[in-house]
Amino acid sequence: DDKYLLKFKGYNFARLFVDINFLKNLDDFETRDDDVFVITYPKSGTIWTQQILSLIYYEGHRNRTEIVNTADRSPFLEYNLHKIDFEKRPSPRLFASHVPYYLAPKGLKNKKAKVIYVSRNPKDVLISYFHFSNMLVTFEASNNIGEFMEKFLDGKVVGSLWFCHESFDHMRGWYEHRHDFNILFMVYEEMKKDLRSSVLKISSFLEKELSEEDLDAVVNQAVFQNMKVDPQANYDSILKNEIGLRTKGHFLRKGTIGDWKHYLTVQQNERFDRVFQRKMKDFPLKFIWE
Ligand code: PPS
Repeated sequence: DDKYLLKFKGYNFARLFVDINFLKNLDDFETRDDDVFVITYPKSGTIWTQQILSLIYYEGHRNRTEIVNTADRSPFLEYNLHKIDFEKRPSPRLFASHVPYYLAPKGLKNKKAKVIYVSRNPKDVLISYFHFSNMLVTFEASNNIGEFMEKFLDGKVVGSLWFCHESFDHMRGWYEHRHDFNILFMVYEEMKKDLRSSVLKISSFLEKELSEEDLDAVVNQAVFQNMKVDPQANYDSILKNEIGLRTKGHFLRKGTIGDWKHYLTVQQNERFDRVFQRKMKDFPLKFIWE
């Protein structure tokens, strides 16, 4: 038994945040046609996309007349920290989730509810995840990147394997089963390089037309520097006051492409590339590494 991980149907959940009874009924979780789910492997741009959706859907979020945390506008499905009653939420509901495709509510397969899957290059995911796990008391700390990398490559982390050669692993699973869902794939690095186009892509998928002014407001409040200082968007108070920090740090840590270069040794990088080659060589999507 692991103190931090709860394995359910082959997938590792964060034990201290998850309700096993909820998981047992997840299959039958009642979705609505206008639900929107942001789905990611951890550390791939979840809060960023949650923020974009909150800004698109809620005028009061966009013009800052309502002070509601982004994390509550679009709560985590399986990590319902604030015990929100999902059934009572008015439509359209926004959700975030890290579930693999085979654990997602079956209702999503009616292809009406929308899924936005965000991926990020796995070296930056690794570095972001290393810092995050060391910072929070509810995750297992590692002594160094090398140690964390072995857990990551073994799937001994929340989210299990990023690296996949089996179709049930995260990124590949969602990608290979994309025709079963109404799904838009977004890429962290593309969002970073051109946030405005990315917001337009998302809003058009959602069939939500934005005026130029609203589009500006969304983009402006979704850039890293502004989210970092926005208490509604940056998780700082939740981490500090509700979860607990082991070391100082921020959820919005750096927000860049290619930070792995500052951390991986030549040997670690080569090992990572070998695993990537072996497991992902036939995978059609390309990643942006720097
Ligand atoms: S979690 O715990 O899985 O929900 O984490 P997640 O939100 O998926 O990922 C956190 C990383 O996303 C970065 N981030 C951003 N990058 C660029 N622009 C914006 N606006 C933004 N918002 C969040 C965040 O900084 C984490 O990455 P690192 O590399 O650690 O900075």
